[in-house]
Amino acid sequence: MEIVIQPDPELAGDLIAQEIVRLYRRKPTAVLGLATGSTPLPVYEALRRRHEAGEVSFAEGQAFILDEYVGLPEGHPESYRTVIRTELVDHVDFPRHALHAPEVEAEDLERAVLAYEWAIRDTGGVDLQLLGIGENGHIGFNEPGASLASRTRVGYLTPSTVAANARFFDDDESQVPRRCVTQGLATIMTAHHLVIIATGEKKARAVAQMIEGPVSQRWPASVLQHHTHVTVLLDEGAASQLELADYYREAYGSVPSWRII
Ligand code: GLP
Repeated sequence: MEIVIQPDPELAGDLIAQEIVRLYRRKPTAVLGLATGSTPLPVYEALRRRHEAGEVSFAEGQAFILDEYVGLPEGHPESYRTVIRTELVDHVDFPRHALHAPEVEAEDLERAVLAYEWAIRDTGGVDLQLLGIGENGHIGFNEPGASLASRTRVGYLTPSTVAANARFFDDDESQVPRRCVTQGLATIMTAHHLVIIATGEKKARAVAQMIEGPVSQRWPASVLQHHTHVTVLLDEGAASQLELADYYREAYGSVPSWRII
């Protein structure tokens, strides 16, 4: 894992955006994996800006959403499809049909979930998967206890995730859907480059467990320790419980300037 500690979330977001721009210049058909939550928003803002400046085109690209609530109607402002459209897709030249999401309204949800897993495989794999992390160490909606070998499936939110996500639903936990579809941990692990962003002290414990703790279902993000190309972008708050923070800073300081992340 490469750990990159930045003074503020906007800088971290822009570094990821620069890496995505570089990816699309090298490979215009690249497949992106997109995460929601509030942490990746600076990445989408930087991408919109860089697209407007003519630095990048997504016209031949594809994107797969990481997870989605079950039970929100199409077009609901907090459905993850809507969030990704309003934060990114509607502002750049991604063809609308190139944004893939699990069919959470399908009558046969299990079948729809399998189809989503296969659709990801059929692309040959996600080139760059953007991830956030929950305070309890979840990635996507892979909550503590998720099998490290899990594939895309229907899941159920923990009370702590319901509480954390209530802020998107008028602070009313009863409005937060409990069921979800998420790419599994093993599905996420098939992406070529995993880029995870975490900001704020609330994430510090989960971040420390992910990077320096044992690999375990209790902290699902710790599975990333088994991937060969993971970049972790942190602000000082999220990095505050890392035992080896100074070493990570020094090591990133030594990378050649042509390499972004
Ligand atoms: C949600 C999403 C995750 C996200 C997490 C953290 O539960 N399913 O993909 O990483 O929240 O969100 P935030 O970045 O808002 O803290």
